[in-house]
Amino acid sequence: MNSQTPIHATDVIRHKRDGLSLTTEEIQHFIRGVADQSNPGAPTDAQIAALLMAIFLRGLNPQELADLTSAMRFSGEVFDAAPLHTFTIDKHSTGGVGDKTSLLITPILAAAGLAHPTPAGIPGICVPMISGRSLGHTGGTLDKLETIPGFNTQLSLQQFFDTLKSCGASLIGQTPTLVPADRLLYALRDHTATVESPFLITASIMSKKLAESLNALVLDVKTGSGAFMKSYDDSKHLANLMVQTGTLAGTRTVALLTAMDQPLGRFSGNWVEVWECVDIMQGTRHPMSADLIELTNILSGWMLHLAGQSDTPEAGAILSNEILRSGAAYKAWLKIVAAHNGDISVFEKPAAFHKPFTTRVLNAPTAGYLASMDCTEVGWAVQRMGAGRLKPGGPVSAHAGLEMHSKLGEKIEAGQPLITLFSENESLLAEPYEMLLNTLKITPTPPAPQPLVREVITASA
Ligand code: URA
Repeated sequence: MNSQTPIHATDVIRHKRDGLSLTTEEIQHFIRGVADQSNPGAPTDAQIAALLMAIFLRGLNPQELADLTSAMRFSGEVFDAAPLHTFTIDKHSTGGVGDKTSLLITPILAAAGLAHPTPAGIPGICVPMISGRSLGHTGGTLDKLETIPGFNTQLSLQQFFDTLKSCGASLIGQTPTLVPADRLLYALRDHTATVESPFLITASIMSKKLAESLNALVLDVKTGSGAFMKSYDDSKHLANLMVQTGTLAGTRTVALLTAMDQPLGRFSGNWVEVWECVDIMQGTRHPMSADLIELTNILSGWMLHLAGQSDTPEAGAILSNEILRSGAAYKAWLKIVAAHNGDISVFEKPAAFHKPFTTRVLNAPTAGYLASMDCTEVGWAVQRMGAGRLKPGGPVSAHAGLEMHSKLGEKIEAGQPLITLFSENESLLAEPYEMLLNTLKITPTPPAPQPLVREVITASA
């Protein structure tokens, strides 16, 4: 196309509707208009929704997906880590129940970076993590962090930069100026039944991650009953698209397909998840936290490997575990929390800070083996106890949530406690109790064991 030829939104929609490939210029022009609605040629909401549906139905080829992601990434301000002259790396999870690995991975990587500073004295590895809030049945890192009194997740990009420089990691929410195109596209997707497109999910997630100016990215793509993508094939397709898009953008990207068939670790909720991580960093390893620690070390292991700190991801996982056990991760955690204005005195007695007001124990109705559960239903039960929002922008309860006393495959005696439910409001316990009771399946024979990591997707694979 001649660069002088005007681009009309209706032509872009028609091309995608008819199965043609969109050009880089068409995608850039359209997304520029999405981000700047004051522009006279900007597409209307109806036109944006029509293009979203055309993409949902027709998909995008690798070049179109790279172009869409790039146009969204540069639709506003981007974070520039180049002046730090460090190795920037992040982890992103597609969302799960009890998934708190970010709270452990950031201090582990920060500790590794603080131990290997650059010639300018800056941590040799930095994790610029821009996180989200609770979405659907899944928890959000920002909601968990904000249960720490004073913790500020709304740093400016300059404060974010300064925190990375001193601590090696910082965790913040999306700013109004970062990837503004995603905000409008996401809101319209929510109203037009186009959220579930793997192409639109990839562009949405990767545009925000790539705006962090990353050298490398590790993706934890969940699969199973508690994942957004329920089928293994769908999860794998999404993982492949994200790895291909990150790689085309020049960021080394690896995806791990991991099981989300039960809550990860001991607790699900907000403060209780911080408490679980603090326990681990202080050296207490509760048996129910074993899967959380294993996944944390595997993901951190990949990150340490990509950052050049270990020859293999497996050696990286061993290093990660050493960083946890030595107390170095806990030291880095205290530094990060203090830099975000958080009150670190609550970590002296994290159990004492947990004030649910009301608890209820769900006991096993029969003996047998804990065989399965609909983990999405478990996530909704946690949300309805108060850990989630009733409406967008509403408050979340710091102390609502649950504690698992058994994991899938374990032998159960009749009457044995399976789950303790916590809420700040007695009336919020009855419905989640029934949801949990109905979804836990106990069978006479043990289920087949499932690995935590199902597959690793790399650009070369
Ligand atoms: N998270 C995002 O940021 N975008 C999506 O489309 C889905 C999950």
